Amino acid sequence: MGTFDKEIDRRRTFAIISHPDAGKTTLTEKFLLYGGQINLAGSVKGKATARHAVSDWMEIEKQRGISVTSSVLQFEYDGYCINILDTPGHQDFSEDTYRTLMAADSAVMVIDASKGVEAQTRKLFKVCGMRGIPIFTFINKLDRDARDTFELLDDIEKELGIATCPVNWPIGSGKKFKGVYDRESRSIVTYSDTQKGTKEGETKVISIDDEAAMDAEIGDEATEKLLMEIELLDGASEEFDIDAVRAGKLTPVFFGSALTNFGVEIFLKHFLEMATTPLPRQTADGLVDPHSDDFSAFVFKIQANMNKAHRDRLAFMRICSGKFNADEEVCHVQSGKVMRLSQPQQIMADERKILSEAYAGDIIGVFDPGIFSIGDTVCAPRKKVTYEGIPTFAPEHFARVRQMDTMKRKQFVKGINQIAQEGAIQIFQELNSGLEEIIVGVVGVLQFDVLKFRLENEYNVEIRLEPLPYEHIRWIENKDIDVAKLTGTSDMKKVTDLKGRPLLLFINSWSIQMTIDRNKGLELSEFARN
Ligand code: G4P
Repeated sequence: MGTFDKEIDRRRTFAIISHPDAGKTTLTEKFLLYGGQINLAGSVKGKATARHAVSDWMEIEKQRGISVTSSVLQFEYDGYCINILDTPGHQDFSEDTYRTLMAADSAVMVIDASKGVEAQTRKLFKVCGMRGIPIFTFINKLDRDARDTFELLDDIEKELGIATCPVNWPIGSGKKFKGVYDRESRSIVTYSDTQKGTKEGETKVISIDDEAAMDAEIGDEATEKLLMEIELLDGASEEFDIDAVRAGKLTPVFFGSALTNFGVEIFLKHFLEMATTPLPRQTADGLVDPHSDDFSAFVFKIQANMNKAHRDRLAFMRICSGKFNADEEVCHVQSGKVMRLSQPQQIMADERKILSEAYAGDIIGVFDPGIFSIGDTVCAPRKKVTYEGIPTFAPEHFARVRQMDTMKRKQFVKGINQIAQEGAIQIFQELNSGLEEIIVGVVGVLQFDVLKFRLENEYNVEIRLEPLPYEHIRWIENKDIDVAKLTGTSDMKKVTDLKGRPLLLFINSWSIQMTIDRNKGLELSEFARN
């Protein structure tokens, strides 16, 4: 196999998802530690510093109150080249978070062992499910009191509808946490306090057939409980099936403690073996093989206005096939322009570096002169392809935008349209009204503040946002339908989006069903497919 193929095959590109505080940042930090990106002492110097380095790589953005980006990190471990896509949760939650999942080949789901599946995990999981990508579960914080292990697995299966297959199994939790049982080798790996991960833990590996040694190490009580659980587990759990894992139907489950750095390397090793190499991607003309000689990529994120004076933007693309060479020309399919991508860069832990080449599976950021939109394809001019667009995700919060100074109408329209084009917000107009009435929809409420802030700072336009009670949005799938004639409920609103597609806003899910019942053949969708 040539270097080109090897480079692609050693890549693993995954998104890391969790509810805030489950330990995503801590786990990422530990991964980087194994990758040699940060040293042990550095990682504990202050979690604040490390957290900063990992998640908030765009200080400038933070100062300006817009911390809404997902960051991308690359590191090397054991011959693999790993790309991690961080997905901000919490108040930072935005459509960007969803889109990031479109660029990943698999996802790592971090769950807090004392809490189980939480709201944000559920949302992100839904998008992973839509793509059918493999999902790996790391149940974290075993050094604290945890919920019963069987219960945790049951929770994942019931809440998320995915089968689970524990790769290892925790022995106790909290003060009684003794380590994990590795099912493959049928041995236990003991836990030792690593002083918050500042040093490598000294672990012992003991076969479960050596009961005396087990008793001596973890005590009779823990041994007895473990042996009973193993029996139950072997009888009840799903067989490990790599095809089911790759199809996103079975999640391998690992247990550990990111903070104390226990179970992280075991996880990383297994994960890298089980996760896929960069996957083929769908285009209008069929699947494109990542090993194809021709470079191709799609834009999944646009980071706007990094420098206010220049209004510059960075477009993030996921390379789907071939090799990217900075001095070769590429074609932006949507505009038909042939160009060189300018200032291609990669984000490494806390710094950005200009790169000259990258391979399928990698994520690059390039300077955007204002031509890229989310979902666009960039490829070698000799072999044009068009990737399937990224779906528009349903906003969950809506507000009417009132412009304070009507004299600045032009700036207002320009500003709000540009921000919408970048995909930071979605804008809608009432059916048959002009641009007078603009309704803005967002996935996370922080985006409202971002909109207000950016319009004021970049376009010098002040706005007021009046919250609207809508919570559900549905795109109308039927092509030949007279929307004006649709009969819905009295609280339903008919609007169009930026691309002129008709859709409906609802206050509750009951109204949605009512509208479907009242209009025979009406097809509604939660996502707008481009
Ligand atoms: P997030 O990115 O998913 O939001 O979570 P993050 O890693 O920031 O972790 C959230 C909190 O949980 C942090 O504590 C972190 O130290 C703690 N934590 C992460 N993993 C573990 C673990 O395995 N065991 C225990 N006991 N705690 C863990 P914090 O108090 O919010 O921050 P800090 O004061 O430690 O900086």
